[in-house]
Amino acid sequence: MTELYRRPDEYDLEHVGDEEDVAFYVALARSMRPKSILELACGTGRITLPLAEEGARSGFSVVGLDSEANMLKQARDKAARMPAAARKRLRLVQGDMRKWHVREAFDLIVVPCASITHLLELQDQLEVWRRAFHNLAPGGRFVVEATMPNFSAYADSFANPPRTLVEIDRDVTDEPRKIRLIRRRTVSYLPYEQRAQIRFLYEKYHRKSLVESYIDDFESHVYFPRELRLLFLHTGFEVEDCFGDYNRRPLRASSQLMIMIGKKPAGG
Ligand SMILES: C[S@@+](CC[C@H](N)C(=O)[O-])C[C@H]1O[C@@H](n2cnc3c(N)ncnc32)[C@H](O)[C@@H]1O
Repeated sequence: MTELYRRPDEYDLEHVGDEEDVAFYVALARSMRPKSILELACGTGRITLPLAEEGARSGFSVVGLDSEANMLKQARDKAARMPAAARKRLRLVQGDMRKWHVREAFDLIVVPCASITHLLELQDQLEVWRRAFHNLAPGGRFVVEATMPNFSAYADSFANPPRTLVEIDRDVTDEPRKIRLIRRRTVSYLPYEQRAQIRFLYEKYHRKSLVESYIDDFESHVYFPRELRLLFLHTGFEVEDCFGDYNRRPLRASSQLMIMIGKKPAGG
């Protein structure tokens, strides 16, 4: 598990200003008119809580599932500050997305924020798709978001000898607490595994003084668009749509992410 998931405050700080994906999932939920939504790997509830607020307006309920107790605790603490109507629409549960199943089926299951890239083995990925199929009502949708393979970031891995470029890819400030988090990133790509080895080097400052620095090493699976499609088709879904950004534009050369929507056939 990545170090950041043991530091939910810093996870939220890192995502300050990330509103586009939240707006995308809330609008998607509103347009699909579900009765119940499951968010897999919901983390600190960054997207789950706004979904529950929308649920209070539009009449659907939301379950957020995550394996990491610290992340869920943060989600629960934030949920306690939501209006009662939204709280009533929300349930947060600890569990593994590869194994979790329910009796009452969902109409919409989402995996935002590239959480699916944490699963490195094909068997684990297939388990998630099969569980999602099983946990959906006929006609229900499974929405998976993954980052596009970033060949320019991987290119240095192919140099001889391999080079490692360090870039600052996050620099965010919590103004009220005067905490600034700077993240440096290195990426190496293992082509035979389709795996990115990512190293985040964090520096946390209070005003201008360094208070902490730490390292976070983890690996993530690199999905290719056709592979994602095949995972849906292999597990019984129809692929209904695929977007290359949060404005619902189709995939194109400059797309940095892919959001694929699979539909469980109505008779399925
Ligand atoms: C990038 S965060 C995304 C959190 C949240 N969806 C968001 O958009 O901010 C990834 C989350 O995946 C969770 N996670 C990783 N593997 C998991 C698994 N097998 N089952 C459930 N949650 C998992 C982590 O604990 C972490 O909270």
